[in-house]
Amino acid sequence: EEDKEELSIGFSQCINQDVWRISMNHEMTVEASLHPEVNLKIYNANRKVKKQIQDIERMIQNNVDVIIVSPFESDSIVPVIEKAGVNGIPVIIVDRKVNTSNYTAYVGADNVEVGRIAAKHIVSLSKGNANVIEIKGSSFTSPGFERNLGFKQVLSKYPGIKVVTMEARKDELDLEPFVEILNRFPEINYIYAYNDVIAYQAWMVLKKRGLEKKIKIIGVDGLNGPTGGLQLVKDRIIDGTVLYPTGAAEAVKLALKIANKEIVPKNNKLNTILIDSLNADILSNQFDKITIQQSDIEQQQSVIKNQLKKYSTQSNLIKLLISL
Ligand code: FRU
Repeated sequence: EEDKEELSIGFSQCINQDVWRISMNHEMTVEASLHPEVNLKIYNANRKVKKQIQDIERMIQNNVDVIIVSPFESDSIVPVIEKAGVNGIPVIIVDRKVNTSNYTAYVGADNVEVGRIAAKHIVSLSKGNANVIEIKGSSFTSPGFERNLGFKQVLSKYPGIKVVTMEARKDELDLEPFVEILNRFPEINYIYAYNDVIAYQAWMVLKKRGLEKKIKIIGVDGLNGPTGGLQLVKDRIIDGTVLYPTGAAEAVKLALKIANKEIVPKNNKLNTILIDSLNADILSNQFDKITIQQSDIEQQQSVIKNQLKKYSTQSNLIKLLISL
């Protein structure tokens, strides 16, 4: 085990700050730490397409063993991903998709299904009669495009459900159009937000106007933790959210298999489910256990590191003594 060759993994993350991305990076770091041979380096593109391309160029230059990419947009990233392939470096795409099939594997939940689940929830709550504001993500990203697609697919069968769609900018609620729609359509009963951060921003606007009891909000992500969507559901701030796992641990596991020349499925689908008041408590209990396990692992890792340090200073000392 010890003298396994080093496996260098470069991860290109497209967005730096939000909780979902932070949790993704953390999960990936924890999973990597379980495999001593893995040397993981995370590059942050901070929403800049150019920077993300440069980061992947750098990985190709450094000839890393495996590249993992969570692309910002689906099109602009294609040439550099294909270039990695031409250079013989396996590429794993996680979360957002790319408009090429020249990569090794994809891992992520199905965003069309995410949209369908949100729509079905509104159908069942409203019995087919409702007015909805949909706050969608950019169509240049596959979640933005597909979460809208699945939502429309289901609702096309329910003519009693009317939808007004607006776009979120940079994963933030665009205040002006939102307020404008609220004013123009006083009979709104539901909001479907592309993610939980936007869902929460929408709730704050509703709260200011005394509308938070009248309008139900459905978000996406369902992250655990104090600022995550799961907590928003438990606090009854949003009515529900659709779980969208980051896929970080799975991506590292895939990287290891690919490096070991195992054949992996090209499409690795993660599960998604509706989280609402019925299952929020049990789910957050489960997720809390995972979080505790993760921090136990990190704790153990740092103990081991310290021990190794001590050991190496001791053995250096012994070497020194012998040489004398
Ligand atoms: C975070 C995020 C999530 C969303 C994902 C889609 O940056 O916007 O909220 O589920 O990206 O790629």
